[in-house]
Amino acid sequence: MEYIKLSNGVQMPLLGYGVFLVSPDECERCVTDALSVGYRLIDTAQAYQNEEGVGNAWRKSAIKREDIFLTTKVWISNAGEERAAKSIDESLRKLQTDYIDLLLIHQAYGDVFGSWRAMEKAYRDGKVRAIGVSNFQAGRFFDFSHYVNVKPMVNQLECNTLSQQKGIEPTLNEFGTKMMAWYPLGGQGADGIVKNDVLADIGSKYGKTAAQVALRWLTQRGIVAIPKSSHKERMAQNIDIFDFTLTDMDMAQIATMNQHDAGTRDFGDPQFVKYLIETYG
Ligand SMILES: NC(=O)c1ccc[n+]([C@@H]2O[C@H](COP(=O)([O-])OP(=O)(O)OC[C@H]3O[C@@H](n4cnc5c(N)ncnc54)[C@H](OP(=O)(O)O)[C@@H]3O)[C@@H](O)[C@H]2O)c1
Repeated sequence: MEYIKLSNGVQMPLLGYGVFLVSPDECERCVTDALSVGYRLIDTAQAYQNEEGVGNAWRKSAIKREDIFLTTKVWISNAGEERAAKSIDESLRKLQTDYIDLLLIHQAYGDVFGSWRAMEKAYRDGKVRAIGVSNFQAGRFFDFSHYVNVKPMVNQLECNTLSQQKGIEPTLNEFGTKMMAWYPLGGQGADGIVKNDVLADIGSKYGKTAAQVALRWLTQRGIVAIPKSSHKERMAQNIDIFDFTLTDMDMAQIATMNQHDAGTRDFGDPQFVKYLIETYG
């Protein structure tokens, strides 16, 4: 496994395992499988309702707590200083740990400054080793980061070979923030990436699949990727990307695949915002 260093010096695995849409029942088995094939970063969220499964899996494994990197996210319904603080303690209980490695604000809506104050306090108190945000697009990210004391160490965004997030990179760099990629394989519509001819052709030179090339491309850019699969053999395939290097020509060819740089979801769309706030706010 390769690691990146966050702005506060914390070392974070470059590849992890995500559990979005993994049911609470299935989560413990999936995370147990993921840990057994070598994953050490697990990405969950309060909204996924499977933090307990993650907690059960790592607890029952023989892996030391300090060798596992747990990420979770404060959901919109827990926005605000008091509610976020309470939710952090709840996440700690469900994850069965006394610290979270990386805590993110899941969405940029509601009282995010209040949430951040609670997160900064949890960080100071040692309940959290690093704090960051998710789905903060460039302008929103700049505004938020400018005004907070502790700058976000991570921004988790949709990022893959079809949505390359090149546009936000200078803004992230300005605050020393690392990018973490959700939908690294394109999510449920993964066929556009895992069956992509350009990626498959590049992979054939190295004996790798299109999915492995897509993940390697992210980690080679210094972006943390967190692919999800319910199948153990795919979990093993997705982590087996550290024994080859894409050439500059491969990287340039993949750069031409960019279709919607900032992702497929418009987080500024008032209808989408209205839906989230009315449902969860
Ligand atoms: N911050 C956010 O708002 C946000 C949003 C979305 C996701 N996330 C995080 O990012 C993680 C990854 O995103 P995601 O799970 O939505 O999508 P993803 O990892 O890009 O893709 C998952 C899909 O790809 C399939 N797949 C996985 N490996 C494969 C392989 N080697 N070959 C062929 N198909 C493969 C999986 O099917 P099988 O399971 O059947 O193998 C699943 O349908 C999530 O689990 C979550 O932790 C965060």
